[in-house]
Amino acid sequence: MDWLVFLTVALGFDIVATKPTTSYDYYRLPTSLRPEKYHLRVLTHLDNPNELTFSGSVKILIDALRNTKNITLHSLNLRIDETQITLKQISGIKKDNCISSTAVNPVHNYYILNTCQELVAGNVYELSMPFAADLNRQMEGYYRSSYKDPVTNLTRWLSVTQFEPASARSAFPCFDEPELKSKFIITLGYHKKYTALSNMPVKETKPHESLKDYIWTEFEESLPISTYLVAYSVNDFSHKTSTQPGGPLLRTWARSNAIDQCDYAAEFGPKVLQHFEEFFGVKFPLPKVDQIAVPDFDEGAMENWGLITYREISLLYSENHSSLEAKEKLAEVVAHEMAHQWFGNMVTMKWWTDLWLKEGFATYLASLGVAKIHPEWNILDREMINNIFLTFGLDALESSHPISRPIKLISDIAESFDAISYKKGGAVLRMMHLFLGEEAFRFGVKQYIQLNSYRNAEQDNLWQSLSKAAHQFGALAKDYDIKTIMDSWTLQTGYPVVHITRNYSARIAKVSQERFFLNPKVSPVHRKKCWWVPLSYTSQDKRDFNSTAPMAWMECTNKGASLPKTISNLPQSDQWVIFNIQLSSFYKANYDAQNWKLLIKTLTEGDFESIHVINRAQLVDDVLHFARTGMQSYEVALELVSYLKREREYLPWNAAILSLQHLGRLLRGTPHVKLFKRLMRKLLTPLYQHLGGIDGNSQSTQNQDQILLKAIIIHWACQYDASDCVAKSLAHFRRWKSETYPDEKNPIPINIRASVYCAAIKNGTKEDWQFLWTRFLKSNVASEQGIILIALGCSQDAKLLQRYLELIFDPAEVIRKQDSGLSFASVVSGEVGMPLGMKYFMDNVERIFQLYNPSVGNMGTILIACSVITDRRQYNEFKAFVKKSRRFFKGLEQTIGQTMEAILMNVQWMEQSSKQLSRFLVKYT
Ligand SMILES: *[C@@H]1O[C@H](CO)[C@@H](O)[C@H](O)[C@H]1NC(C)=O
Ligand SMILES: *[C@@H]1O[C@H](CO)[C@@H](O)[C@H](O)[C@H]1NC(C)=O
Ligand SMILES: *[C@@H]1O[C@H](CO)[C@@H](O)[C@H](O)[C@H]1NC(C)=O
Ligand SMILES: *[C@@H]1O[C@H](CO)[C@@H](O)[C@H](O)[C@H]1NC(C)=O
Ligand SMILES: *[C@@H]1O[C@H](CO)[C@@H](O)[C@H](O)[C@H]1NC(C)=O
Ligand SMILES: *[C@@H]1O[C@H](CO)[C@@H](O)[C@H](O)[C@H]1NC(C)=O
Ligand SMILES: [Zn+2]
Repeated sequence: MDWLVFLTVALGFDIVATKPTTSYDYYRLPTSLRPEKYHLRVLTHLDNPNELTFSGSVKILIDALRNTKNITLHSLNLRIDETQITLKQISGIKKDNCISSTAVNPVHNYYILNTCQELVAGNVYELSMPFAADLNRQMEGYYRSSYKDPVTNLTRWLSVTQFEPASARSAFPCFDEPELKSKFIITLGYHKKYTALSNMPVKETKPHESLKDYIWTEFEESLPISTYLVAYSVNDFSHKTSTQPGGPLLRTWARSNAIDQCDYAAEFGPKVLQHFEEFFGVKFPLPKVDQIAVPDFDEGAMENWGLITYREISLLYSENHSSLEAKEKLAEVVAHEMAHQWFGNMVTMKWWTDLWLKEGFATYLASLGVAKIHPEWNILDREMINNIFLTFGLDALESSHPISRPIKLISDIAESFDAISYKKGGAVLRMMHLFLGEEAFRFGVKQYIQLNSYRNAEQDNLWQSLSKAAHQFGALAKDYDIKTIMDSWTLQTGYPVVHITRNYSARIAKVSQERFFLNPKVSPVHRKKCWWVPLSYTSQDKRDFNSTAPMAWMECTNKGASLPKTISNLPQSDQWVIFNIQLSSFYKANYDAQNWKLLIKTLTEGDFESIHVINRAQLVDDVLHFARTGMQSYEVALELVSYLKREREYLPWNAAILSLQHLGRLLRGTPHVKLFKRLMRKLLTPLYQHLGGIDGNSQSTQNQDQILLKAIIIHWACQYDASDCVAKSLAHFRRWKSETYPDEKNPIPINIRASVYCAAIKNGTKEDWQFLWTRFLKSNVASEQGIILIALGCSQDAKLLQRYLELIFDPAEVIRKQDSGLSFASVVSGEVGMPLGMKYFMDNVERIFQLYNPSVGNMGTILIACSVITDRRQYNEFKAFVKKSRRFFKGLEQTIGQTMEAILMNVQWMEQSSKQLSRFLVKYT
């Protein structure tokens, strides 16, 4: 699954909750039974908007592995007519059995059928059950979605599934665990004006036996798959068929008036599918794959085998409305889901504990795949390095968690779909790729896929394959094994800062490690942790930034203590060293004062481009974080950052902006903000001018990095009022407003629209806001709607913002529920919006909870957005509010922990470090 906000989960109660509850309370199903095949029939009613429902029956063939007197499976919110349940033995002597009683366990959504006669090991049984429910509005299970037909102005309804991680149980009774793979024969009934899609191709279509104009479509039998990968949809969409000789049939589906936005995905899809066939050395096993853009979709996308579902923004691309950034993101998501067809679908994790394995891999392999198909985008470094910086921030909290962790409740699974699983997972896999080298990495991954196809595996299975490959290719010393190394990264929370202390006369360096925390108050004992760190480095005289192969390792004892390490043969005392070439490993590097001085000298006065661009970004990110935690002074940090006046590349700038934007927010409303703004203008203006300002029109000759660089520089130049950024943005916006058909013709260059809209709205009138809101309502392109929703939150007008907050949480969903969390985040990130948004949230938390319940993803986004609080009084108020409102934040315990800690870090910093910063700001402005 691709995670956009994060995952939602049902914690509701069965309709049958009045039944006796059972004593069986273990979080995994009993192991005496195993499903072999499901015959699933579902009839979907989309005609009456007041009665969007489904009903059906499931016939499950079950192998008895041990004798048992009950069948325990999952069912949630389904109406089940128990008089219609049948059970019989179908192997050996065919015999009728029956159900004597039923019970439920609402915590784990178990539905227990006690059998009249014991089920005997070695036999096969057939259980049939009817079920029915409403198509829900919460974007999970089997749910409804809708869109407005632009010609008739009527609402069109469709149905679609979202089962991961644990919602198949709310669509039909099933053994809803990833390890219980089974074959599926799915048959869908629906009005014949619709199309039905499922994992497999259509086998045959027949008229419904009684309902007029209804048909039954039966799909081919599937391969063994996990329940969370089952999918189906009934819709009236159009499609584009991709052509790729020899490959599977690939179709891209969308509502008819968006079908012209399918071209890019239809062209890119087969290319990336073919790439992964070669990468894994296993052909795509299904005859077809469909990708479908669903108007209401809570995640980024979902990799259901053979029927991949997407949010519109993740699949639809409009040449005239979507930015390059949106296009790249789309390619990443498509590649991510395609990678899952092997890593996840063909080889599946045994249990949700190893969720990170499929998600980390899909994240990393997606970047490799896109880089292969679009080498001109230079996406690999950009994506991976930005992921690393983002995770460095999150994972420096005490409330962070390991990539791999025990899962017992389905609400824990939901919180696992976070940046740590995806982005840190991807980052440590990249690290492994870089220390193993190309051959060993590829060979090991191939082996793992081939050995475990159609089965379930754990991370240790992967480590075994990789260790073997590593030793075979000589990529790792014989006495090292991947499991020991990687366990230190996947089972431990956090990551190290490596301290490099040089002895200049002896030309050696002492290297030590400790866990990095944002909170300077964490005691040294808690910092004493050990990771197996591959060390790569270069020096001013060598400047060899090409090889990321480790030149040494930091090792750990069996007890997890770090062994001291000395590096020798370092250069003379007037030459710097840099560790962690191309940020190939997941750690921060801190140096002694002299080495920082040497680095700063080269950056500010010397040949700064002789330092690899990724390492320039690393130095900026590291030093600003060290200053934030007091490990370095702001004097060193600002001196280093002042080199940005010379920098013309995307990565170092993006690193700087990620950190400085946070500083800027902290300083808002303090006396230091003026100086800070001056500093930002001083840094940004040379590059703004170098890029030709807003109207600089050398885009055709620019590469992708430069286009994206320009977008972020304009955004921040306008934020800090540099040069003519705001005036030019307003002029652009006015030109757009004066167009007769603004929805057809938008003169603002696509890639800077997000920045221009925001600047214009920030400095604009009520009428400007209304104009943009109208464009939102009329837009047919999800990515354009996305940037408009963010821009509307840039306003500084309290009245407009208040109105916007009402619209965001309006149950009429003019703004779709899936987009509300991000719209809210935009409001509270602004100076005027922050107090308004916080108050609105605290006053309306119950209503907002009702809007999303039982899904928790958007509530999580809202909580995270609240980390903008910076003063102690507001912190205390928010803390009291959270405590009082616990019941609205069920399943979000971890998010709350992270949010409260992030806020506390802001507060502490304001109280303790802001003065130090301002002292040095004077010097650099
Ligand atoms: C159902 O049977 C399994 C053993 O096959 C047993 O572990 C479990 O406790 C039983 N469930 C109930 C509710 O009795
Ligand atoms: C479409 O329907 C809405 C109400 O659902 C109405 O307000 C609007 O005027 C209609 N538009 C057209 C073009 O008919
Ligand atoms: C994009 O805009 C150009 C120029 O306005 C127009 O000619 C073209 O048809 C548009 N493309 C699409 C797909 O709408
Ligand atoms: C540096 O190394 C030399 C030679 O080994 C030693 O004499 C000196 O004390 C060391 N300096 C420091 C500061 O550790
Ligand atoms: C590093 O790689 C680049 C590009 O592949 C090459 O131009 C350069 O000479 C290499 N540098 C060293 C020191 O090997
Ligand atoms: C932005 O708005 C402020 C206050 O309304 C105004 O003083 C300033 O001139 C505006 N900037 C531009 C470039 O119009
Ligand atoms: Zn995924």
